[in-house]
Amino acid sequence: MLSESDARDLVATTAGTPVGELLRRYWMPIAGVAELDERAVRPVRLLGEDLVVYRDRGGRIGLVDRWCPHRGFDLAHGTVEPEGLRCSYHGWCFAEDGRCLEQPYEDAVRPGSGFRAKVRLRSYPVREKGGLLWTCLAPEPLPLLPDWAGLSSPGCTVIAILHLPCSWVQVMEGFHDPVHVEWLHDRWSYRLNGADEVPRRPTHVDFRWLEFEHGVVYQRKLRGSRRWLADRTVVFPNVDGAGGQGSYLTWVVPEDDTHCMLVFRHAITSWQVEGRQALLPPKDLPAGGPVPTYRRSASPDPGASPSADLGSWLVPQDVVAWLSPGPIVDRTRERLGESDRGVVMFRNRVFEEARRVARGEDPQGVIRDPARNLRITLPGARQNYGLRGEGLPGMTGADDVMLRAFLPPDVPGEIRRHVAGTLGPILAKLAARAPRTVPAPGDRP
Ligand code: FES
Ligand SMILES: [Fe+2]
Repeated sequence: MLSESDARDLVATTAGTPVGELLRRYWMPIAGVAELDERAVRPVRLLGEDLVVYRDRGGRIGLVDRWCPHRGFDLAHGTVEPEGLRCSYHGWCFAEDGRCLEQPYEDAVRPGSGFRAKVRLRSYPVREKGGLLWTCLAPEPLPLLPDWAGLSSPGCTVIAILHLPCSWVQVMEGFHDPVHVEWLHDRWSYRLNGADEVPRRPTHVDFRWLEFEHGVVYQRKLRGSRRWLADRTVVFPNVDGAGGQGSYLTWVVPEDDTHCMLVFRHAITSWQVEGRQALLPPKDLPAGGPVPTYRRSASPDPGASPSADLGSWLVPQDVVAWLSPGPIVDRTRERLGESDRGVVMFRNRVFEEARRVARGEDPQGVIRDPARNLRITLPGARQNYGLRGEGLPGMTGADDVMLRAFLPPDVPGEIRRHVAGTLGPILAKLAARAPRTVPAPGDRP
């Protein structure tokens, strides 16, 4: 249970709040690069700020205030020029660094007045990496954009973005809560699928965390086993590194106090062959190339039809867990137990790192030394998620979960075609070697 002020501070994302300032020290993905091909100007909400990201016709990418400094027109309705973004109301045009390049009427009637030089649009830096657009709202000098090895690992890569009407902290707390897996994803699945009897399952008897430079790896112990099963790698403050191999990464990007955006980036490196998950030959997998992106918004009321979509959409059971308490769970009334040690650890770490920022220091995971920013690998027992690791016995393999998450029935056709076009030839080769049937990409696992 938190005090009212701690509960408030934990979820506050705006500038000037302790955690808002902490979050501003990290690079955040804001959109897929490919999304600017479909629409050159897109609204972005980040840490309580309304912004637009755009690519002008000269190829320059900008991230600027959403509201025109003239009279507040929404620049998401702006148009891109050979240089800059033009407001559609009176035609003022802005460069990606916020300079005002043109004020057509003022320039005509009061040339040389100096008015234009006094107008500036708030702007932030943008970088492209791994098919994503990134920004950082930190004061200068900016930290380095982390070079996670997974962002350049070979694979058939897809980006999916899911908007959630809840605080980012709720999602991260779920990532620090191993015990829910046995209930939310296992027993509840049986119930949702109409089973009266839920098979007896090994239950959690212990879990622990191993710290590394950028976060923690959690391990669980199940009844009847003396071994620690490694499971999740979490990068502070907001990245789920899944099994650590890096082919699957999820950023929980805080849009504001009550909304966040999950950015999933999955480089598919394995597929079901002969009924078993198999590594695809790395030499055949593409490295780089365009990464298709699609996005969805989660229902604000997932409790309305608890079973309708639960088997088909991105981590749907987790979405219910994150959203059903409301946009901000009341942490002044919760009753935490032993199973919540990870949640408590995460909150303490958030507050501790926020205090470091307040003292003028860099928080955990901020990288400034280029020599330490080369293909950073994440620790984790699973060399390839779902292949060599061990999940709960009897549960769907983790890679299957990811594949189902990324290829739900309503996935856009172009994404399905991208996966089919990339993996098809590789699977055909494997099929030629093993004459029995190899499922086609896009088949639901
Ligand atoms: S409101 Fe943007 S140019 Fe007038
Ligand atoms: Fe979960």
